[in-house]
Amino acid sequence: MFDFTATPPLSLYIHSPWCVRKCPYCDFNSHEARTEIPEDAYVTALIADLEQDLPSVWGRTIDTVFIGGGTPSLFSPEGIEQLLSSIRARVPLKPDAEITLEANPGTVDQARFKGFRDAGINRLSIGVQSFQPDLLQNIGRIHNDSEAVIAVEAARHAGFDNLNLDLMFGLPGQSSKQALSDLHTATALEPAHISWYELTIEPNTWFHRHPPQRATDDTLWDIQQSGRLLLGTGGFERYEVSAYALNDQQCRHNLNYWQFGDYLGIGAGAHAKISDAATQGITRTSKTRHPHTYMDAAHSTRRISTTSRLEVDDVVLEFAMNALRLDRGFSPATFTAATGLPYGVIEATVNNGVADGLLSTDSDAIKATPRGQRYLNELLQRWMPESA
Ligand SMILES: C[S@@+](CC[C@H](N)C(=O)[O-])C[C@H]1O[C@@H](n2cnc3c(N)ncnc32)[C@H](O)[C@@H]1O
Ligand code: SF4
Repeated sequence: MFDFTATPPLSLYIHSPWCVRKCPYCDFNSHEARTEIPEDAYVTALIADLEQDLPSVWGRTIDTVFIGGGTPSLFSPEGIEQLLSSIRARVPLKPDAEITLEANPGTVDQARFKGFRDAGINRLSIGVQSFQPDLLQNIGRIHNDSEAVIAVEAARHAGFDNLNLDLMFGLPGQSSKQALSDLHTATALEPAHISWYELTIEPNTWFHRHPPQRATDDTLWDIQQSGRLLLGTGGFERYEVSAYALNDQQCRHNLNYWQFGDYLGIGAGAHAKISDAATQGITRTSKTRHPHTYMDAAHSTRRISTTSRLEVDDVVLEFAMNALRLDRGFSPATFTAATGLPYGVIEATVNNGVADGLLSTDSDAIKATPRGQRYLNELLQRWMPESA
């Protein structure tokens, strides 16, 4: 059924599983580091992990690298340098590869940022979340508002011009005015990119067990619309549900996910999605989640991953879950290039979505209408196998 003429662009995700403290809203694979993190052992495990994955991407070049977490800024610049040079020795990176590292403002200073820059990191994503000190406390952050601003300035002085700030809205106790004021402060700092997430209450988090008071869905929707206007006025154009770029400086790594590109994932709990033109199949791989089990396995002959082949239904749903988040949507040609499937596989679902006002087809672009964006989950239901 799959028929790839070429494989899509390739990214590399590297997971760092430790944080200073677990935030009450966070369901990422992150663990409180009660003692010093085992940096050398983990970097060695990451490289062993990469080596096991290399046969699946022979001959391909990596476009983007993203070191996420957890809190990778807990690693020393030397550890990051060792990691990146070991990767470069094993797999080709594009000369202009985007190489991002996530940083928590409570774990950095200018010297550390300079070390990351020298190690080859060329984009920083700083987890600011809010500029209101009381709200930062409500969500258990280890930094205050001025430390967040200092981190942005320190990153600039260390030579980073490609900066992302993560912000969240819908925080416990946050008014609409405070949410918009956070955006004002962020735009005034002129980062290249702002990721503005609505706080979601995830299972297995402290907030799920102790639900905080939050604004209603209608208020959250109004905040989102006003925020989008405010960011647009400041020059930040939205290109995905939560992503805004100044002067088109979009995040190449995340764009590759949303366009259903390929990615390797190394580190505890990391995921990969790889298309194989030779076998005409797409595989998904997940690595062992717990950091110590992961490290033990990577250093032995035990398997550190499970791999499954995706069926057509999985591919169609996963493609929609990603591509419909993009404001530009997708075209029949980009669907076929990314999935290896003929457009006919989704044509009826698209036509039904258009008839119900959830999708629009504007010249070649198929995208969610404002109503489709608001009810994205309902729209995606239609791409599930049983409703096709
Ligand atoms: C994996 S975290 C990495 C950043 C770094 N660990 C930090 O928190 O500073 C990536 C971003 O996801 C967002 N995030 C995490 N949990 C969320 C949730 N439950 N709802 C909405 N956004 C969330 C936060 O903005 C966070 O900065
Ligand atoms: S610092 Fe980031 S990754 Fe760590 S627990 Fe908090 S939100 Fe999650």
